[in-house]
Amino acid sequence: MTVFRKSVGYVAGIAIAATTGLVSYRALQAEGPEPPAVISGVPRDFPDAADDLVKRGQYLTRAADCEACHTVVGGAPFSGGRPFKLPFGTIYATNLTPDRETGIGGWSDARFLRAVRDGIGTHGNLYPAMSYTSYTALSTADALAIKAYLSSLKPVHATVPTGTLSFPFNQRWGMKLWNLVFFHPHRYKPDPTRDAQWNRGAYLATALGHCGECHTPRNIGFAMRSREYLAGTVVEGWKAYNTTSNATYGIGEWSDEQLTGYLAQGHAHGRSSAAGPMAEVVEHSLQYLTPSDIQALVVYLRGIDPVRGVGSDRVELKPAAVVASTNLLPAGDAAGGNTRGRQLFEGDCAGCHQFNGVGRQSEYASLAGSHAVNDTTGTSMLQVILDGSSLTVNGRRQVMPGFGAAYSNEDVAAVANYVLAHFGSKLGKIDAAAVAKARQTH
Ligand code: HEC
Ligand code: HEC
Ligand code: HEC
Repeated sequence: MTVFRKSVGYVAGIAIAATTGLVSYRALQAEGPEPPAVISGVPRDFPDAADDLVKRGQYLTRAADCEACHTVVGGAPFSGGRPFKLPFGTIYATNLTPDRETGIGGWSDARFLRAVRDGIGTHGNLYPAMSYTSYTALSTADALAIKAYLSSLKPVHATVPTGTLSFPFNQRWGMKLWNLVFFHPHRYKPDPTRDAQWNRGAYLATALGHCGECHTPRNIGFAMRSREYLAGTVVEGWKAYNTTSNATYGIGEWSDEQLTGYLAQGHAHGRSSAAGPMAEVVEHSLQYLTPSDIQALVVYLRGIDPVRGVGSDRVELKPAAVVASTNLLPAGDAAGGNTRGRQLFEGDCAGCHQFNGVGRQSEYASLAGSHAVNDTTGTSMLQVILDGSSLTVNGRRQVMPGFGAAYSNEDVAAVANYVLAHFGSKLGKIDAAAVAKARQTH
């Protein structure tokens, strides 16, 4: 997994922190005592588990999606080892099973809280590839319920690599400076101007689901830009789109039903399906939330200020109705311009996606109306064509195979531009060089 843009930010952030007076300023801001844990992450209608700490912990662990990062492909759940590549080396998510030697077995509550909410781990300060910048908002009761659940798992003896950070980045103190400038330790405080349902959604989206970690553009120091909250950015080579209520670039025009379907099942009828990193979020996390919690998330997202987003990370969405009537290539391109793209789509893609884009065997393969087929940079489209995607919801697996091995860079560009023209009525700008670059993010 590549977090290149993020990691450039760490370096810049540490440098900025070290060279500005902000450090001394923030260092003087003593942290106050912890506010009372006024909100519980466990939903009121949570099935039969009002008093069962481990069950509550499982619900919260899923809502916080610890498993996605702390499991390596083919490894036991939570046993760690997933690599996070930074330009100055690689770090690995750790083993969260209760093994005493290699996991969190025997950890005190204080040690666990320090790692998860303050970003201070066994070897010193953690890099923000671990989402402590969001988990800091967790209530103590919820964080410890998560620990109780993890401690109930079967211990797996799995030593994760120690990482290959080069000097001085193996000296984790650099992150201390970063934290002083960019990290604001806090517990979630309900917004009194909003109702209980919105606050519930806010807690789920921030302290637990850490949606902003992927959907919010970063400043040069890798901190989230609060004015662009959820305005969309690139993460792991995929575009995590604008999910504010902006009508043109965000999800303002999505119906409640579409939004609910997307979050709970990974598919918004007439819009899109969750692929790539978002497929993982739905598969490991959101599909397990209760209907009332999904509803709270929808209410929360609706209440986010609509913002346009920035630069090429912004994707203008054409309404699906317009696309459905545009089943031909744009006039300028029709005269043989992209016959290769059309041939490839006909042979390799139409079987699942169909020419009208509604999807054949499964509505998960519908393309019309999605951000992916409207993005002329092709950011996510290249990822899905090269690598494929899969999503398992309610025990049913949706698969898109990858074509990276079979296709040349020219082929990938041709079929991607064809999809943009056909389903988005847009002229794509994807060329072989862009495909070569996308291959490097793997
Ligand atoms: C976005 C990916 C991601 C998510 C989500 C995530 N982690 Fe982590 N976690 C990491 C990485 C990467 C590290 C190692 C960071 C480093 O070496 O600086 C880590 C480190 C840790 C550590 C420190 C272990 C040690 O020995 O120092 C603990 C504890 C931990 N995570 C617990 C959790 C829990 C609990 C959750 C869910 C509430 C969670 N993590 C969710 C990526 C993640
Ligand atoms: C690990 C990164 C990551 C996290 C965490 C994450 N998302 Fe996403 N999200 C993405 C990506 C990438 C996409 C684009 C998926 C695609 O191409 O199909 C996406 C797509 C979406 C979409 C559909 C947007 C569209 O126009 O198609 C919604 C809605 C959404 N996310 C909401 C959320 C919410 C709510 C949360 C928190 C509970 C969340 N996401 C957490 C990465 C993430
Ligand atoms: C076996 C069926 C199948 C084939 C063949 C297939 N796809 Fe897909 N495709 C899917 C499914 C299912 C999804 C939704 C995946 C998910 O939700 O994880 C998808 C998703 C997509 C997306 C949306 C990605 C996003 O970011 O949301 C694009 C674009 C796409 N496919 C293009 C193509 C192209 C181009 C080809 C041919 C080169 C192709 N597909 C071949 C089944 C298929």
